[in-house]
Amino acid sequence: MEQVDKLKKSFKKNFGMEPTHSFFAPGRINLIGEHTDYNGGFVFPCAITIGTYAVAAKNGSKEMRLFSENFPEIGILSFDIEDDLYRKEHGWANYAKGVLKYLKEAGHDLHEGIDILIEGNIPNGSGLSSSASLELLIGVLLEKMENLQLERLDLIQIGKKVENEFMGVNSGIMDQFAVGMGEKDTALLLDTNTLQYEKIPVELDDHVIIIMNTKKRRELVDSKYNERRSECEAALAELQSKLNIQSLGELDEKTFDENINMISTETLMKRARHAVTENQRTITAAEKLKSGDLNAFGKLMNQSHISLRDDYEVTGIELDTLVEAAWDQPGVLGARMTGAGFGGCAIAIVKKDETNTFISQVGDRYEKEIGYPAEFYIAEIGDGAKELTE
Ligand code: GLA
Repeated sequence: MEQVDKLKKSFKKNFGMEPTHSFFAPGRINLIGEHTDYNGGFVFPCAITIGTYAVAAKNGSKEMRLFSENFPEIGILSFDIEDDLYRKEHGWANYAKGVLKYLKEAGHDLHEGIDILIEGNIPNGSGLSSSASLELLIGVLLEKMENLQLERLDLIQIGKKVENEFMGVNSGIMDQFAVGMGEKDTALLLDTNTLQYEKIPVELDDHVIIIMNTKKRRELVDSKYNERRSECEAALAELQSKLNIQSLGELDEKTFDENINMISTETLMKRARHAVTENQRTITAAEKLKSGDLNAFGKLMNQSHISLRDDYEVTGIELDTLVEAAWDQPGVLGARMTGAGFGGCAIAIVKKDETNTFISQVGDRYEKEIGYPAEFYIAEIGDGAKELTE
């Protein structure tokens, strides 16, 4: 594989020896089911073929040494295998530190340092889960190179813990789950309450999924992500004074409508309404995809975006411009933002023949209205994190 061969050469240059192992972890898109994963609801993501590669070899010392082709100016970052602390100067290597720390806590000690060289082709800050990709990449690398006896779900939980506790981002489990469990041409219908999931083939006939990147960076920590999460918790607490529920995901729309007056403010009502309706839409959308009703699936995607725009208020002018332009194009089944929102990416299901026109029309409109160009990629649904063996 060309990409890996290039990394192997660079590894030799940087670390003075040949790497012994190669790995890949994907990014992800979410077809529908947004901001439901911390509300005990369903999500419907898939892994994509763009992601992060690593080549590695044990180095006989007590140091982890890491180099990223994406940040060559930073050079090699190194830390002692016993150093469990988040340190600002360790930059992106903190993700690796976090994974190591929680593996250790789960009883998997590391005895020897590893040299790791990585390169990702997920556009930075695009909301396609470059951080979950890095967490699972390091997780699988340590699992294979250290021969650890782990379930895939253990690695997924560790990745989430790194995000929540080590990096301080209060995200749900969707990204790590998609990156860890993804499978070619398959979407995962995950119940985030029970972690039961179903693999559903994504058969789009003569359509493709186009990823539209606003190029507006979306920083979860700085964004209103945690605020939305607390708003949902507040709405849930008010509903719990009457209803015996543990999460908003347990409510159907009828029960929610009957009890909406338990919620004290308009804002909290809107947030909770999104969580409840989005969850129902996700369940229906998965059924529609299974039965091959792509038109109905696309309409649910559109409704999802409207709910995220009007009730959850996480879209913003850039995502709305892309998605609304997409809705106006011929051959489009549906379009919506994907991921946390506040910038990042949207997706559209578009007739293959219309791809070029779609990209040029939506691209022109975006640049005219926003003032700088968007980027477009055709999404291919690929496998979850794995060792590469040729
Ligand atoms: C981010 C988080 C996920 C999920 C989405 C919104 O991607 O990491 O856990 O909450 O936002 O659906």
